[in-house]
Amino acid sequence: MNVNSNQQNKYALVTGGNKGIGFAICQGLLKAGFEVILAARSLDKAKAAINELQSSQVHPLVLDVADDNSIHQAVDALRQELGQLDVLINNAGIYPDEGVNILTIDRNLLGQAMQTNTFGAIQTAQAFLPLLEKAAVARIINVSSGYGALDGLSADVPSYCLSKLALNGATIMLAKALQPKGIVVYAMCPGWVRTDMGGASATRSPEQGADTAIWLATVASPDLSGNFFRDRQEISY
Ligand SMILES: NC(=O)c1ccc[n+]([C@@H]2O[C@H](COP(=O)([O-])OP(=O)(O)OC[C@H]3O[C@@H](n4cnc5c(N)ncnc54)[C@H](OP(=O)(O)O)[C@@H]3O)[C@@H](O)[C@H]2O)c1
Repeated sequence: MNVNSNQQNKYALVTGGNKGIGFAICQGLLKAGFEVILAARSLDKAKAAINELQSSQVHPLVLDVADDNSIHQAVDALRQELGQLDVLINNAGIYPDEGVNILTIDRNLLGQAMQTNTFGAIQTAQAFLPLLEKAAVARIINVSSGYGALDGLSADVPSYCLSKLALNGATIMLAKALQPKGIVVYAMCPGWVRTDMGGASATRSPEQGADTAIWLATVASPDLSGNFFRDRQEISY
């Protein structure tokens, strides 16, 4: 990987960094001066995205958040290169709810959304904890959705809503569990964003969708740990 490991540098890892909001978060973090680990499900996808970024400060990592072996291999690879991880952005997500609702969705589809959107973020946070603990003030940012807020739950978007509701719950629990270690944890909603997931009619650019995640990674107060944000403002769970 050849990360330029140096105690003065700040290191951020973005899951699902190869496209969409994750890619825009990588761009923003590079501008903010981070060394960025762009994680994707395949090395080819990570490298193709990195080619577009044209920066020597971004490094590829293979990471499938739905697969524990992949998560642990990624941690092992990074541990050989890095002394610490300052920021973990749990951005990877799926939206598998086309053509189903809460009355018709099967257990398998519910499970797929949970495995990636919720359990993926929890397992990734657990696995990278030894590296996060070495940073002065580490930050974990969970890219959630207004669909996961109590007043945003939609019967027509069942697995996605439940997985983001549970991700919000995990954010609260992780923040409590990590408070003694000085690690802060936030959830954020990017708004409706023009990506493969959000579609072409969405109202925001990927850069606009990435803005709050970058703010949380850089300037948001650690006192706000455990809260949920959109447009740099706290919103209700
Ligand atoms: N777009 C919106 O309007 C919107 C609104 C609210 C919240 N969000 C959230 O924002 C985040 C990014 O969404 P997006 O709109 O940028 O979607 P996107 O364009 O579909 O990108 C999703 C990213 O997640 C990756 N991914 C999916 N499953 C993965 C897995 N098991 N392991 C690792 N990576 C995986 C994808 O990788 P591949 O390229 O390999 O598929 C891709 O890089 C998601 O968490 C989403 O729920 C989006």
